[in-house]
Amino acid sequence: MKQPDYTSAIAQALNIATDGTEFGDKLNHIIRTTAETLGGGASLIMLDSTRTRLIHSSSFRLPKYYLQKGPLDREKSLDELNSNRTVVINDIRSDSRIQFRELAERALITAIAGVPVRIKGRAIGSLRIYYKASRTFSSADITFIEQIARIISLLFLSEIEPAPPSQNHPVAGALHHVQAPDFAHPSEAEFAGLLDFYNIEWVYEPRSFVLEKAGNRVTEMFSPDFYLPALDLYIELTTLKQSLITYKNRKIRRLRELYPEIKITLLNKNNYDRLLAKYGSGPLGQSRAHGIRQVLYTQEQIKGRVDELAREISADYANKCPVLLGVQRGFICFMADLIRQISVPMDMDFMALSHYTGKPGKGVKITKDTDLELEGRHVLLVEDIVDTGMTLSYILNHLKGRHPSSLEVCTLLDRQARRLVDVDIRYIGFNIPDEFVVGYGLDYQEEYRNLPFIGVPVILSDTSPLVKETQ
Ligand code: IMP
Ligand code: MG
Repeated sequence: MKQPDYTSAIAQALNIATDGTEFGDKLNHIIRTTAETLGGGASLIMLDSTRTRLIHSSSFRLPKYYLQKGPLDREKSLDELNSNRTVVINDIRSDSRIQFRELAERALITAIAGVPVRIKGRAIGSLRIYYKASRTFSSADITFIEQIARIISLLFLSEIEPAPPSQNHPVAGALHHVQAPDFAHPSEAEFAGLLDFYNIEWVYEPRSFVLEKAGNRVTEMFSPDFYLPALDLYIELTTLKQSLITYKNRKIRRLRELYPEIKITLLNKNNYDRLLAKYGSGPLGQSRAHGIRQVLYTQEQIKGRVDELAREISADYANKCPVLLGVQRGFICFMADLIRQISVPMDMDFMALSHYTGKPGKGVKITKDTDLELEGRHVLLVEDIVDTGMTLSYILNHLKGRHPSSLEVCTLLDRQARRLVDVDIRYIGFNIPDEFVVGYGLDYQEEYRNLPFIGVPVILSDTSPLVKETQ
């Protein structure tokens, strides 16, 4: 089957979105263009103000009786809204997720794709594509549908801001989801700011899990603070005392037993403050390192490991003339030592990124991009340390757009314990414990980069008992 011309369909949708027609006409027109391009039916369904039902707002090529079946029950429908991710069913007949199955069969719908329409991370509805025959959606199809869903999100956004439509406007029901959530604690707002900085989409408390029931009555529930749809990961921030963390841990253990498919990470206050301190934010932002309490890797150990990595890289990249790409500034010692042990021809380049400052509205930016042309090259990204993975995943996405022949990562240190974003790392120097480290290029608030070894600093306002004893 010939691939539809998605580029001109997107251009057309953008034209419609920005021309002078009425909001409702724009929606109808975009839905129609989408359906025609894909050669199927299309519908935009919106969550009502209770967020429990879905209403067909605009549709094209769907039989009347299918539309007239009334609102869909969110819980029984496709689960793209609960999961906040694209859901594809190539053949309905072998799937149990569809509500009104008989109706779907009468309307001769066999394949469906549902893409959430999101504003600031929160789903307000879904764009659904329907086919009479079974169909395997290609990744190009899905990308196209997702792009259209984004254009629709922008349409809604432009409708809402700056002048909110009146209460009886057809979209008013969807609007109350758009305001920033009421965070239960300032640290949650700060964390949301950090995620925003790295362009990581998040949803606040989207879902409650039942942990305990007495008969039909729910006796214990748990609502994790954040959900990151792109990573399919829940995050629970806890600012509680250590004794209460034990209680939280129990809840999380229970959640994992009952819902083994759910990925959840607990960030406690200490970890979290240290995460922010890395950027000079949060309560430890002004703290100072005062000496070193432990040496993790001596000069010799580092040299031994760097030589091994260089040998591996030389073997893997023989005849490839890789570009070793360093991310400023922590990589400096590592890169300098590594390249001197690499025995095959190579090039080198650098990038720099802006740092999180805690000020709202600013996203991560590349402050220095590469000078070399990377298209068709074998790029090896050289990092000092991968912690949450947020920096790395941002850079990797950026570099993928430059079409290198291959793209791999080499990091001196890997701290798995604090990983939030999954990233593939080809070469790892050392797996380190959950401790902040300095030296050999790594800093604490710009200090200690020039130590020849890697060690754990004493951080003065740190509340962990271990550090207190040494003060
Ligand atoms: P991520 O985005 O959380 O993975 O953070 C990666 C960056 O944070 C690294 O490239 C470092 O610049 C910095 N970083 C993370 N952990 C440490 C540490 O223990 N010492 C010094 N810098 C760190
Ligand atoms: Mg770095």
